[in-house]
Formats: sequence, structure tokens, C-alpha cells
Amino acid sequence: MLDQLIENVHLITLDPEQPAAYGLLENAWLAIDQGKIHSLGQGAAPEAELTVDGQGQFISPALIDCHNHLIWGGNRAQEFEWRLQGRSYQEIAKAGGGIASTVAATRAATDEELYQGAAQRLQALLDEGVTTVEVKSGYGLSLEQELRMLRIAKQLSTEFSVHISTTLLAAHALPPEFKDNADAYIDLVCREIIPAAAVEKLADAVDVFCEGVGFTPDQCRRVFEAAKAHSLAIKGHVEQLSDLGGAKLVAEFDGWSVDHIEYLQAGDVAHLKESDTVAVLLPGAFYSLKETQLPPIAAIREANVAMAVATDLNPGTSPLASLRLAMNQACVLFGLTPEESLRGVTQHAAQALGLSSQKGMLKVGLDADLLMWNIGHPSELSYGFNLVKPAAIIREGNWL
Ligand code: NIG
Ligand code: FE
Repeated sequence: MLDQLIENVHLITLDPEQPAAYGLLENAWLAIDQGKIHSLGQGAAPEAELTVDGQGQFISPALIDCHNHLIWGGNRAQEFEWRLQGRSYQEIAKAGGGIASTVAATRAATDEELYQGAAQRLQALLDEGVTTVEVKSGYGLSLEQELRMLRIAKQLSTEFSVHISTTLLAAHALPPEFKDNADAYIDLVCREIIPAAAVEKLADAVDVFCEGVGFTPDQCRRVFEAAKAHSLAIKGHVEQLSDLGGAKLVAEFDGWSVDHIEYLQAGDVAHLKESDTVAVLLPGAFYSLKETQLPPIAAIREANVAMAVATDLNPGTSPLASLRLAMNQACVLFGLTPEESLRGVTQHAAQALGLSSQKGMLKVGLDADLLMWNIGHPSELSYGFNLVKPAAIIREGNWL
């Protein structure tokens, strides 16, 4: 007999094969077996060991935060004050603040301090119904420190009920030891850090910061070649502050995602479609930096490129431990529909992490990562913040 049946629910499947908006199946049931969605439908339901009456509530896939810098030391409240006084993110970065100051604080922190800080922020995300989180390195910037960050990410996944996808972001900024010698640092990233992360199976993907205050497209290309040689997936922080053609480069490598993309030219969106690369929108960083350049949403929609939404949780540009608020911001600031926003933190976020065959929809065979909601319509999940919390969180069939 099957493990569980949840009946008398409205299913927000988000499955493109379900024709209604949100892939909605009203007055339906969903059966779970061995942690996976066994079957779902309307009408006659199968029998199960445990039957739960959903009392007319909604069930959605659990949320996925596909861009997150969860682990860091210190904070950047001082920099926040400077920015409010009119200094720009780039100015502060050039003066040795920005990412470099978080690198110094992260290196100085003990493993336990990093773990505890990250654990607190992770808990805030989980409370909202997130069950999958990407965690990037990028505040260590040496072989030892980058691997340390990834190990802490792995440790979090053993102690919390969450799936953590790890991304090596060694090419985030130039460490002080390599001042004026970016190419030598990229050598280290390609020849030592990427191979070591691959051998220890510490990373699913490799990311870069392709930007004036980060690395050039040529340097990013070298990083991507090394990632590919080690069979790691590719992602990029691209076109956040200027257009260096980073998105096109990621697409050339069939990358999982291009993230930020405020300065992406509408004409370059077609490259993303060809490679099935997801456009990851990070409205928390847009908001915090008081950015005015909007990502080319209309062109992305027109080209039918998948859009994801994530927190970009980090101490500098997006101190935002709320994916639900990011969903709301994506609607208000970027003009996404609530349905696009919800797909952005489920179906398309899964795609941005290479997890489409496991997560992100209510579909037979996928993990039973589910949220129960006491709402009247799925748009309520993007409307308002801190108004509606999940009535239940289920991960791989277990009620949390
Ligand atoms: O996603 N753009 C680069 N990385 C982060 C910012 C990191 C920081 O400022 O500490 C981002 O916005
Ligand atoms: Fe980021």
C-alpha cells in the first residue's frame, strides 16, 4: 500500500502539461510513496497507509532559493550607511570595502562562527517553506578558505532538513595577496581550486563575477573551461552593473543560469534560449543598490526563456533572508506576474540548479517537497509579505 494520501486539496502543480493557470488542479488528491510523488489527480483516489484531509487548502511545490551566499563573517552595516550617504557600491569596492571586507571577516571567523551565522539565516528561509537552497563560496578566495566554505555548506545539509546545492565562486573578487595580478589568481582557481573542489565532490557548479569590479570575460572563460574539464556545471553573475557580454559567454558553455542581468541587452536574450540557460532575477540586490536599470523582462518573456527568482542573500548587496519577499519584489519592481514569480522559486529555480528531474513541480516521480497553504488563491503567495506562512511543510514525504 502507498505511504500517504492527501485528499481534498487544490494542487498548484506548475506542471506545463496542466493547462490551467498555475497548472491548478482543483478538488484533487496527491499520493506520496517512498518520499516521491506517486500519483495525483481528481476523482477516485488510491488507498494509503495514512490519509490526510487537506480541508480545501492549497498545496504547492516547496520553495527553492537558487542563488544564495549564505555563509559569511561580519556584516556590512557600515557600508550600508556609506551608500545611503551617496557612495556607490563600486566606489566602496575600489576603496577596499565591499566583497574584500567580507573576505577579511570570513577568513578571521572560526568554523563554528561561520556555521552558526549561516544556520540562523538558513532557518529563516526554511521557516518560509524553502527546502532547497544553493550555497556559494566566494568569501574565502584561497584554496583552503574556499573549500572550508563548501564544507560548512555540506555540514549544514546534514544537520538541517534541506537539500543544499553547492557552488564554487572562487572567481568572486581578487584576494589581496594577488593585487594587480588577477591572471595569476585565475591560474590558481583553474589549476588548484576547481580541481580540488571536484575531487572532494564539494561543488555542483562553478560561478564567476564577470564585472569591472570582478573578472573580465576572458578570465571567466578560463574558469568555465576548467569547470567543464572537471564536469562541473556553470553559472554566472553577469551584467549586474554593466554589460560585458557575460551572459552570452555563459550560454556558450550551456550554463545553468545567468544571474542579475539588469544590463543584459534585449538582443542577447536569444543566446539564453538556445542553451536553455535560466535568467535568474535578484530583486533584493536591485532594491538594496537602488538600481534603476531594469532587466529586459519583456524580451526574456518574448523569447520564452525561463525566469527564476532568488534572494541573493549576502552581506553587501542583498541582506535579505526572505525568498517570499523576493517573490513580492519580483512582481512590484520587475513586473513579473505572481504566477511567474512562483514558477521562479519552484519550477525554474530547480532548472537553474540542474534539478528539474527531481524538484520544482507537483508531478509524478518528483520529490514530495510540498507546502500546504491556507489561502484562497495562489497569487496570495506573491502578494504581501509576512502575511501567510505555510500551514505545513513536507520534505521528501516527511512532515516537518
Ligand atoms: O550577488 N555580485 C557579486 N556578488 C554579490 C555581492 C557580494 C557582496 O557584495 O558581498 C551579489 O550581488
Ligand atoms: Fe550573488
